[in-house]
Amino acid sequence: TFKPRVFSGIQPSGNLHLGNYLGALKRFVDTQNEAEFETVYCMVDLHAITVWQDPAQLAHNTRELAAGFIAAGIDPAKSILINQSQVPEHAQLAWIFNCVARMGWMGRMTQWKDKAGKNAEAASLGLLAYPSLMAADILIYHATHVPVGEDQKQHIELTRDIAAKFNHDYGVDFFPLAEPVIEGAATRVMSLRDGTKKMSKSDPSDASRINMTDDADTIAKKIRKAKTDPDPLPDSYEGLADRPEARNLVNIYAALAEMTPEAVVADHAGQQFGQFKPALADLAVDKLAPITTEMSRLMADPAEIDRILAKGALQAREITTPILKRTYEIVGL
Ligand code: ADP
Ligand code: NA
Repeated sequence: TFKPRVFSGIQPSGNLHLGNYLGALKRFVDTQNEAEFETVYCMVDLHAITVWQDPAQLAHNTRELAAGFIAAGIDPAKSILINQSQVPEHAQLAWIFNCVARMGWMGRMTQWKDKAGKNAEAASLGLLAYPSLMAADILIYHATHVPVGEDQKQHIELTRDIAAKFNHDYGVDFFPLAEPVIEGAATRVMSLRDGTKKMSKSDPSDASRINMTDDADTIAKKIRKAKTDPDPLPDSYEGLADRPEARNLVNIYAALAEMTPEAVVADHAGQQFGQFKPALADLAVDKLAPITTEMSRLMADPAEIDRILAKGALQAREITTPILKRTYEIVGL
């Protein structure tokens, strides 16, 4: 029976954080366990090198991310788990999409503008073409559902544009139009130090994020020091509309506890953050500590991680090889 395919990825650029977990990884596990989808999850190392990565560190970070996926609940018997560079059809399809997508489309992406900054001339060509490779990641599986955080919505829209232009230019109905799946209370976890910025691997302040490798004391300390305002929690979630830092902590609590943010506010109405923060820290440690422990256990046997990824690559190539072959035929290659 036909199952719609789900694809998503995370960059092995170090500092896997709570935003990646709640916005992406935890939802990958939920989707895997729903059984109505076929799921493919990927460490996108070719995306990571669009900015400089120390080679030894990159290899370490890729294994650590794989350990994070498995520790969080990705089961290699239920999902295909791969490292991008081990499935060469991703990069091969990306080249074709580089010739379908337009320069102007890439230049309009907010992630490009944020990451290239004022000195776009000095950014890598790969950073500009990042969304074209991402489109290839998804479409080399003919995936139709892409669970991501809010920040990736624009890239999925571009993926649809690329699929539509390919189909139109070559007069085929070959690549599907993929949908972003952006759900839950934590689609955009914010920095703990600045309620206007998203929690990010690349933020120079370690206190801005909770890393999946942080120990219990570090997690508790970062939450205790998280920026808030002096007011207590209101009676309703709408009361947090103009309080981004407070809202962020409530959203994190809700996602960890699998509650709605409205229910969290109702439960804690009138509480000061001096009370709410320790409750949040306990909850975070409760949910994250088992994952952290399992990650370090898995990291003690890197050969086993490599074996899982090699098997995943073989499974993936059963899907990607015929799709690339057909694409080449369509293009006349
Ligand atoms: P980062 O942006 O931290 O470098 P990636 O680009 O590798 O992470 O993104 C991996 C996944 O994690 C994507 O689905 C992205 O939308 C999600 N994600 C990243 N940061 C956050 C965040 N602060 N809140 C929610 N989801 C996030
Ligand atoms: Na991102």
